[in-house]
Amino acid sequence: MRVAMIGTGYVGLVSGACFSEFGVDVVCVDKDVSKIANLEAGKMPIYEPGLEDLVAKNVEAGRLSFTTNLPDAVKNADAVFIAVGTPSRRGDGHADLSYVFVAAKEIAEAVDGYTVVVTKSTVPVGTGREVEEIIAKAQPDAEVDVVSNPEFLREGSAIEDFMRPDRVVIGTKSERAQNVMRSLYRPLYLTETPIVFTSRQTSELIKYAANTFLATKITFINEIADLCEVVGADVQDVARGIGLDGRIGRKFLHAGPGYGGSCFPKDTLALVKTGADVERPLRIVETVVDINTKRKSRMADKIIETCGGVDGKTIAILGVTFKPNTDDMRDSPSLDIVASLQGAGATIRAYDPEGMEEAETMMANVIWCADAYETMGGADAVSIITEWNQFRALDLERARSLLKAPVMIDLRNIYDPEEMASAGFTYVSVGRARVDAS
Ligand code: UGA
Repeated sequence: MRVAMIGTGYVGLVSGACFSEFGVDVVCVDKDVSKIANLEAGKMPIYEPGLEDLVAKNVEAGRLSFTTNLPDAVKNADAVFIAVGTPSRRGDGHADLSYVFVAAKEIAEAVDGYTVVVTKSTVPVGTGREVEEIIAKAQPDAEVDVVSNPEFLREGSAIEDFMRPDRVVIGTKSERAQNVMRSLYRPLYLTETPIVFTSRQTSELIKYAANTFLATKITFINEIADLCEVVGADVQDVARGIGLDGRIGRKFLHAGPGYGGSCFPKDTLALVKTGADVERPLRIVETVVDINTKRKSRMADKIIETCGGVDGKTIAILGVTFKPNTDDMRDSPSLDIVASLQGAGATIRAYDPEGMEEAETMMANVIWCADAYETMGGADAVSIITEWNQFRALDLERARSLLKAPVMIDLRNIYDPEEMASAGFTYVSVGRARVDAS
């Protein structure tokens, strides 16, 4: 089996590397010459645990290569995956499909013999049909089946998610294409991974429904957290108490500063647009989008209130990426929180283990520090925005001696309130009672 993977972003690069690990011959294609040169030199464009080693191993074994030459890669492939970006279109929130359509046209001009063209990018319902039309127009005799095969991997655990998925979804009614897909995913058959064969449009919708459901689950617990703070309940216990019900499940019930990243914000918005377009408004999702957007400034207010105003004060921020184990800053709650704090007159000192390079291009006037302790030096309060492991076991005595006042606003609930009180802190978290130094 030979695969051409078009696009070397998160999904493309991880999927390409993982398919090669399955024993498939994979060529990853990108237009970005320097990105391909770097990949050839073993340099990854993203921070993803385990990726560099996996790529190196499969390049060495001769199963994985990189190129800017799309026609050559496509000509020799049994399956061509479209894994290019589908960002939110400026202005209306629809998924921008221009990269997908350009890729489809270029693929159409190069295919040779029976080829399965697979959309792995997150694309709205009906995109597969449009890709099919583009290919038929460019090369009416092309022997092509267009299949939807959405990806469910998470940044930070992408390789594990690809290798041991909860399920694989394959959208096509063509038996010939199903057989190609079956052989690509053969190693997962051996581990009895459920494979959902369905129609193309159903597969396309499954991807949006999954991400939107998870975003809704997070938003639900975030609102419950707000309620907990007022009625004196503990959101962690509520999450455990409901999550142990197998029908609800414990995952994605961690209250926090709101979801961010390259997927949930854009996919919830795109699904709202799809519903509106066909006059089936998705009112729950519309509300989720609205609550999550407003949540970020609520989090800034929480910090401001705890500090009794931040004008002229210095706030130490630990973690700026949208979640740990990634350098991705896209739609990170920290972007809004930091801007609001600065707007209220605060000076920001910040540290993130992997995200600072990208963050520097997106946040102005931040004093970037070398580690958590340097960040806290002379600050009036510290706020944890991203739950990196290294922030989970801070030396609290040292932290207290560095801060001007022992105040922590923990937006990820990684500390125990009682322990923080005994350590001499005023500690404010999400959905749990505020504690003061005991
Ligand atoms: C998400 C999905 O989890 C993947 O299944 C999907 O493949 C991917 O989008 C995609 O469409 O490509 P990802 O964006 O990498 O993955 O990150 P998540 O782990 O889902 O976290 C998203 C956001 O939700 C983060 O800001 C995280 O902090 C937040 N979150 C997550 C919570 O606030 N609480 C939780 O309980 C879980």
